[in-house]
Amino acid sequence: MILFRMPRLSIGRRTASLPIVQGGMGVGISLSGLAAAVAGQGGIGVIAANGIGMIEPDYFADGRAANIRAMRSELRKARAKTSGLIGVNIMVAANDFQQLLDTCIEEKADALFMGAGLPIKNIPVDRIRAAGGLVIPIVSSGRAAELIFKYWEKAYHDVPDAVVVEGPLAGGHLGFKADRLEDADQQLEVLVPQVVAALARYEETFRKKIPVIAAGGIYTGEDILRFLQLGAQGVQMATRFVATDECDADRRFKEAYVACRPEDIAIIKSPVGLPGRAIRNRFLDNAAAGVRNVKRCAWRCLEQCDIQHADYCISIALDNARQGLLDQGFAFCGANAHRVEKIVPVAELLDGLKHEYEAAFIQSLVTLKDETIHALENRFARLRHDYVLARRQLTALCDGAGKAWEVRKDSLREDYERARAMVEQLGREGETALKKLHDLKERFPEKVAELQEIARRFQAGISESRAG
Ligand SMILES: Cc1cc2nc3c(=O)[nH]c(=O)nc-3n(C[C@H](O)[C@H](O)[C@H](O)COP(=O)(O)O)c2cc1C
Repeated sequence: MILFRMPRLSIGRRTASLPIVQGGMGVGISLSGLAAAVAGQGGIGVIAANGIGMIEPDYFADGRAANIRAMRSELRKARAKTSGLIGVNIMVAANDFQQLLDTCIEEKADALFMGAGLPIKNIPVDRIRAAGGLVIPIVSSGRAAELIFKYWEKAYHDVPDAVVVEGPLAGGHLGFKADRLEDADQQLEVLVPQVVAALARYEETFRKKIPVIAAGGIYTGEDILRFLQLGAQGVQMATRFVATDECDADRRFKEAYVACRPEDIAIIKSPVGLPGRAIRNRFLDNAAAGVRNVKRCAWRCLEQCDIQHADYCISIALDNARQGLLDQGFAFCGANAHRVEKIVPVAELLDGLKHEYEAAFIQSLVTLKDETIHALENRFARLRHDYVLARRQLTALCDGAGKAWEVRKDSLREDYERARAMVEQLGREGETALKKLHDLKERFPEKVAELQEIARRFQAGISESRAG
């Protein structure tokens, strides 16, 4: 039994019982099968819209129509399988972004994840709100989050409901320059608190929680705990969900994950101009050596794709890989794909993550307890040291005072006696003086009369001598 469960993930009015979003994976890697399995277990399942029409027979005749039809049908299939939360992942850079978005709004997808570009212009916010959908941009920096939120606030007087922050260890196309993937300031551990900080102002203004969901390289329950402790409310994981029975790719695609070693995972330059992480194979080696493998372009599905100069069509290569034709394509993967050991059911994978999370949580409590005890011991030791010091000083002071008293007590006593004698004498003298004064006062009129008599006689004597 699990005592310490992962926290729920609440976004707007929706709550997933697990804080785990299954990352959208095109082309056709995460469709209704995987998304429904994850949603059914309490996470958020995500269907990738990118190239979704390639599962339809008429994609090369009408790519746009095939995409819309497949999107609608996969959303309905997922809904039929589960009442859990189902999201979609739409690339802003896709040429049919608006139509795909409209379809997902009509089908009332629970969450609209939007990446590969900034979802700012022409977003039908009112219709999304009326349909009850959550808007969740995918960013790779606090700056990008800030740009999106600032634009939305001004243009729509509204803001998105959550943000996925994707770091450089993710799979698929990456939102970083190839030579900056290992920079310390680009790591997910740095980006998550950055985005949390960037959203704080909007949480206050719009009086709502805007959860941050961390993505890229999150592999174990311990990783989940670490990112939650860094301020994320949830995580998005993709690589681990590839190696599940329910993942919509061919088994050979999943086995490529089990078989790959760290040195097989490479950063490639995709024909859309972005770096991407994938499992190296002969197809990619040939492309890197300049072998062109462009047979056709269905309808220029991606805005930035330069098919004239591209070595291959990325949609076709990914769709071939989805079907297990890895000699005619390649598998995108996250940096941790080499850690995948076997293909398991989604429920088993999630169960393992829950147990790992619990173990890590307990360990973090033990570490916290140890750190607290250590801190208390340090504090206690410091206090004891201060106490011993103070006691020593006090003892020295008392000793000193005692000795000083011993040495000076006789002379102090003499001084005291002398002072007391002086006071007594002063007292006595004072009394005598007072008495004299009193006598003086009593005899004053008599003395004055005497003096007057002497003066009179003296005066008379002078008069007689003048006359004689
Ligand atoms: C096979 C594969 C395909 C992917 N395709 C897309 C995609 O179409 N759109 C997108 O936004 N992200 C795509 N991603 C990225 C994931 O959604 C996710 O954010 C990222 O891989 C998380 O890192 P992790 O794989 O280490 O868990 C893909 C990842 C993989 C492994």
